[in-house]
Amino acid sequence: MARKTFIAGNWKMNKTAAETKALAEALKESLAQFGDTVTMAVCPTFTSLATAVEVLKGSNVKVGAQNIHWADNGAFTGEISGAMLKEIGVEYVIIGHSERRQYFGETDETVNKRIKAALKYELKPIVCIGETLEEREGNKTNCVLAKQLKGGLADLSAADMAKITIAYEPVWAIGTGKTATPEMAQETHAFIRATLAEMFGADVAEATVIQYGGSMKAENAGALTAQKDIDGGLIGGAALKADSFTALIANAQK
Ligand code: 13P
Repeated sequence: MARKTFIAGNWKMNKTAAETKALAEALKESLAQFGDTVTMAVCPTFTSLATAVEVLKGSNVKVGAQNIHWADNGAFTGEISGAMLKEIGVEYVIIGHSERRQYFGETDETVNKRIKAALKYELKPIVCIGETLEEREGNKTNCVLAKQLKGGLADLSAADMAKITIAYEPVWAIGTGKTATPEMAQETHAFIRATLAEMFGADVAEATVIQYGGSMKAENAGALTAQKDIDGGLIGGAALKADSFTALIANAQK
């Protein structure tokens, strides 16, 4: 089954609402050329989501959040619920980014709870997994990824999994300028797909979009997405400017 290329920009803690408006307006124009040949999304901060949704309404660019709490509401100071995201028209939500795992105590268990909340509110999860440099050098990559997949995706059905995108982001490649070679990334993506096949069956695994993330830019996007099991990218730095994000998508088109 042909998987559609999916490129999403994770803006992290960048862009005020005014800056979001300017970038979203530029992207609406520059990305129109791609029509629906590729799925495209931007994921701004919570305070900019409504602005992004408003500007990109009716365009081919979707909007995602960077986190979601698992409770419907309640005493969770500083958190945002699925109902709140759904209400403003958000379609995707990034869950379990390595920066959340590293700095904010995210675990496979909390990832799992957040995924279930996203599905409950019909938001499409982009679930991030990835190994640290120490884990890669210690030959623990597959073991770490299998644990993240099994824990993060626990108790989900094949129908649930059909709504989920996986983003493989080697932690050592994020914001460092070091990219996994296309061959190295392909080998890991194939392992991830095989693990999904074990968990959810071959058909679901074959249909799952697996993005690569970590210093992906226009220059390496073509070689990475040319790999059989690399179906797009989750982009940090190169997503913060309209020209670099547009050039990356042009090169990532299969
Ligand atoms: P960079 O593209 O800046 O390396 O960030 C990748 C990332 O973490 C996307 O979620």
